[in-house]
Amino acid sequence: MKRKGTTEMPTVFVIFGVTGDLSRTKLIPAIFNLYKKGHLPRRFRIIGSSRRDESNESFREYVRTIVHNERSGTQKNLKAFLDCVTFHRAFFDDSESYARLGEELVGIDGHFGKCSNKLFYLAVPPNLYEVMFKELANSGLTIPCSDEEGWTRVLVEKPFGKDIDTARELDKMLGLLFKEEQIFRIDHYLAKETMQNILMFRFSNAIFEPIWNRNYIDKVEIMLLEKAGVGGRGAFYDEVGALRDVGQNHILQMLALIAMDDPKKLSAEHIRGERARVLKALHPIKGKNVGKVVVRGQYRGYLQEKGIKKKSSTETYFSLEARIHNARWKGVPFYLKSGKALKGQKTEITVYFKKTASCLCPAGAEIHRRNALTFRIQPDEGISIRFWAKTPGFTQKLEAKNLSFLYHAVAATKEAPEAYERVLFDCIRGDQTLFMSTREVRSSWAFITPILRDWGKTLLYTYKKGSGGPKALPHF
Ligand code: BG6
Repeated sequence: MKRKGTTEMPTVFVIFGVTGDLSRTKLIPAIFNLYKKGHLPRRFRIIGSSRRDESNESFREYVRTIVHNERSGTQKNLKAFLDCVTFHRAFFDDSESYARLGEELVGIDGHFGKCSNKLFYLAVPPNLYEVMFKELANSGLTIPCSDEEGWTRVLVEKPFGKDIDTARELDKMLGLLFKEEQIFRIDHYLAKETMQNILMFRFSNAIFEPIWNRNYIDKVEIMLLEKAGVGGRGAFYDEVGALRDVGQNHILQMLALIAMDDPKKLSAEHIRGERARVLKALHPIKGKNVGKVVVRGQYRGYLQEKGIKKKSSTETYFSLEARIHNARWKGVPFYLKSGKALKGQKTEITVYFKKTASCLCPAGAEIHRRNALTFRIQPDEGISIRFWAKTPGFTQKLEAKNLSFLYHAVAATKEAPEAYERVLFDCIRGDQTLFMSTREVRSSWAFITPILRDWGKTLLYTYKKGSGGPKALPHF
């Protein structure tokens, strides 16, 4: 199998929480896909770890059932892959478990005859982060063999903290235990093909950048709408809620990509720097303002879902109006909205441009000629521009038309990696562009925390499953 763009060094993937939802639905399929596409290092091992009592054989069987439906995997492929998979039973607050893992890793390095690279993926509930960071650091497992050989990297999922204070604490601890280049904070939205395209599109097309500001843009809408409810994740979700689950991260990262300034260079440092700068410029929403520009909702039937507290007031929906305090965006509202159990499944960003200065409208006709540019993140990934054209014939009427680019119409789309493939691939390469920096995490919490503090005093609207959510503010 030809290796493409990744390291020749042996690499060990340790996945903590390997029997959880994320590993089953995303990580294991992503690693297998990378393997099939020749994007994993030639020599690798996967150590799955959880509290469950599994043998290597039963765990391999578990992995087999997850990946056997994946397209184009031959039996030979699968067998060779499974040969590189083992299980390590661990209690994540128990030093002994890490010591045993250390022995296993020494054995693997002995087998390779080299100090391998090691990637530790924390696919565990966020309340375990603190103890795991400490145990990992104390165990010495994350100490690289040397500057040249055997890097160690730690991957953490969002939500990173519960608010600005806990995020700061976690980050302080991470900073003491690991170097910034070892820490990969995941927001899988950043790794979606269509999200990466926002940056490329904006800064490679000279026709947009000159008008990408308050003089020409009227408003921006960002939405992440889901059909499904909380499903089997009730207990986790009830502690978190929509604003922390997707608002503090996915939605604010969409905003960052739409609103950031030109990074000038395609480097992690420049791109993450500009994303952080625009997030820092978000105007905090506090006190009475929360009730005016933020809506929270809960779908009816949520309280009956498994794992939800009796009288839970956790939101499954929010919409809010954000403002960015800088020269480019002063006065432009950014409407952010997300919810579960809604009528449609749609993630998109629409930029609405202002009306033209004069109106060549037929007498008596009130035509507002506004252009709109939509980035559809999913489904039907693509970009479309709404413009106006004269209706053909003996008329002066105008009608709206669309110029569209659909990803599915392009053959290369089939080859495009799924977000978690990209996350893992970039971590192996050591490229942090699509991961959140400390500054981004801090700035996004700085915006979200005051809302969380004050919105308990505002109404919690309920909405019908399969509806468009509560209609509490006029703009959505
Ligand atoms: C996750 C959230 O981060 O993103 C989930 O925890 C949400 O609640 C999911 O459903 C949405 O991601 P995607 O890739 O399915 O749009």
